[in-house]
Amino acid sequence: MKSLKGKTAIVTGASRGIGKSLASVVADLGGNLVIAARTEGPLRETAEELAKKFKVKVVPVPTDVTKLSDLENLVNKAKDSFGGIDILINNAGVSSQYPFEKQPFDDFESLVHTNYLGYIRLIRLVINDMIKNKSGAIINMVSGSTLCDPLPRNFLVYSSLKVGLRAFSKGLFWEMRDHGIKITSILPGVTDTDLTGKLKEITAETSRLMSTEAIENAVRFALTVPANVCPLEIAVINQQTPWTAPVIPFKQVHPGK
Ligand SMILES: NC(=O)c1ccc[n+]([C@@H]2O[C@H](COP(=O)([O-])OP(=O)(O)OC[C@H]3O[C@@H](n4cnc5c(N)ncnc54)[C@H](OP(=O)(O)O)[C@@H]3O)[C@@H](O)[C@H]2O)c1
Repeated sequence: MKSLKGKTAIVTGASRGIGKSLASVVADLGGNLVIAARTEGPLRETAEELAKKFKVKVVPVPTDVTKLSDLENLVNKAKDSFGGIDILINNAGVSSQYPFEKQPFDDFESLVHTNYLGYIRLIRLVINDMIKNKSGAIINMVSGSTLCDPLPRNFLVYSSLKVGLRAFSKGLFWEMRDHGIKITSILPGVTDTDLTGKLKEITAETSRLMSTEAIENAVRFALTVPANVCPLEIAVINQQTPWTAPVIPFKQVHPGK
């Protein structure tokens, strides 16, 4: 297995859920970590846990990805700590479930700033150094919901921003290909985390949800393929939730309806 020894990764949304699992993949492969989330306590605890378990350096940087100044600080702290950034795992995200006509206006803002703007801003902040180095890997946490057409009801703003992110990532791969930079979108199905714990209906039978381990394996693959290979998109779709039914037969099925 290829090692990430001597490499540095930023992982956003790494204090819990999918981000924490992905940070552990980097640590397990021997990479240095700079991890980000808003709430300092759990972020520091995660840093200590990963450093102890995997014997790697983990720097926690409290960051709100909706703020450009916080993202600049995150990148500067990573460079000061390790000299550069080889891998960016853009993962921080929020979700919400509303019929569109009832969705609060501030919810739109939170979704756009966290799940889209935060992603492209952070990529913009690291990409020029990656271009200079002629190497780098960027992983964007998209969503299996982008495979549904029409998009899942009550998640239109969330899912349409993920569609945008997916399109952006694919285009960026094409633009960065000759610079030796890999861009990978991960499309997870419904996964058992705090994010889905807050959603109604989907999580009625939690035993049917995926664990973050499946996503860990996908990201491990993306980070360890040979230099001339780029996994462009990896969809890790849940086999059992009714939620993902539209991915297979075209007709949407709505739990509880
Ligand atoms: N779970 C699923 O079923 C699923 C499926 C498809 C895609 N995804 C995507 O996977 C990603 C991770 O989801 P998850 O299920 O692991 O969620 P989660 O358990 O709720 O964790 C979210 C992480 O993001 C951080 N975060 C949220 N807002 C932030 C902000 N403004 N600035 C910095 N950090 C922020 C949280 O920490 P703080 O709150 O302390 O900031 C936390 O570390 C998201 O992009 C989500 O859309 C999830």
